[in-house]
Amino acid sequence: MSTFMQNTFLYLSKSRLANRLARRYGLRLGARRFVAGETVEEAMVRVKAFNDRGIQATVDHLGEFVTSRAEAEAAAAAAIEALRAMDRAGVDAYLSVKLTQLGLDVDEALAHAHMRRILSEAKRRGRFVRIDIEDYARNEATFRLFRALLDEFGPETIGIAMQAYLYKSADDLEALLPDRPNIRFVKGAYKEPPSVAYPNKADVDENYFRLVARHLSAGGYAAVATHDERLIERVKAYVREAGIPRERFEFQMLYGIKESLLERLAREGYTARVYVPYGIDWYGYTMRRLAERPENAWFVLRSLFAR
Ligand code: FDA
Repeated sequence: MSTFMQNTFLYLSKSRLANRLARRYGLRLGARRFVAGETVEEAMVRVKAFNDRGIQATVDHLGEFVTSRAEAEAAAAAAIEALRAMDRAGVDAYLSVKLTQLGLDVDEALAHAHMRRILSEAKRRGRFVRIDIEDYARNEATFRLFRALLDEFGPETIGIAMQAYLYKSADDLEALLPDRPNIRFVKGAYKEPPSVAYPNKADVDENYFRLVARHLSAGGYAAVATHDERLIERVKAYVREAGIPRERFEFQMLYGIKESLLERLAREGYTARVYVPYGIDWYGYTMRRLAERPENAWFVLRSLFAR
């Protein structure tokens, strides 16, 4: 994979100007490959279709790195609306949120207050909410808020994601283990320096497996979020040998990526969940998907010249 291309897409993912342009041009620029639609209703239609194939969902109203209170307020309202829409549609789904979308960069207390509102709504409806994990600069604050919210709402209502590329994740996991939280393990999608993250993919993969195994052996619930078939097979072998029941973990993949593999896992009797993003702020999310696999840029280019 070209590191130059990867770095370019990750740099572009944070461009505010490009994000504004992308909003204006809607879901045309190939983002449909990775994004379920612009509205929550469109997302629910997709979720229902996944449910019909035995796949559960986690729904993400797209948006991140907001800089105003008004944007954060609108994002919190959209998250609450998504929870209501899930009940209306009667789907098997929960919610994923990003703290920078809820105002973390504006004021940590603001993001905390929005999360408390969202979690109260979720708890009332018996739904679960997971905090996505963003770039390293927000990592400390994200885990601080998660800690407080976990104490208040408990692991049945709130979970978090953890990045295997960060050296610090092993310590973060140890600190959380006594509470047996629900953790989604991911490799990590942002551009981080070798001072904080493993630069070699093989080390990231190894740390991923170590984190999942440690978490499962200590009694936690693991969402194994990866499209890496070798890693998935390794986790399957581990749970078999360690006698970890299937109720203690699940597999997750992103909308538009390796859906047939997720379907196969569901058919094999594992809990399988797809991450379904929707909304007009598709730009940063889509750029990260291109960075993971620059060949995906072909889909974007093709859609530019279509119609
Ligand atoms: P890896 O990159 O090794 O890919 C394995 C194989 O999967 C590739 O060979 C390719 O076949 C396929 N593949 C991977 N990415 C692809 C793509 N974009 N397009 C097409 N094929 C692709 N990150 C983060 O930092 N914070 C978070 O909160 C989340 N949340 C999250 C939720 C869920 C459900 C998933 C699956 C992933 C995330 N991620 C994330 C993203 C994660 O960190 C990581 O960047 C991607 O999952 C890609 O890594 P893989 O584990 O798939 O392995």
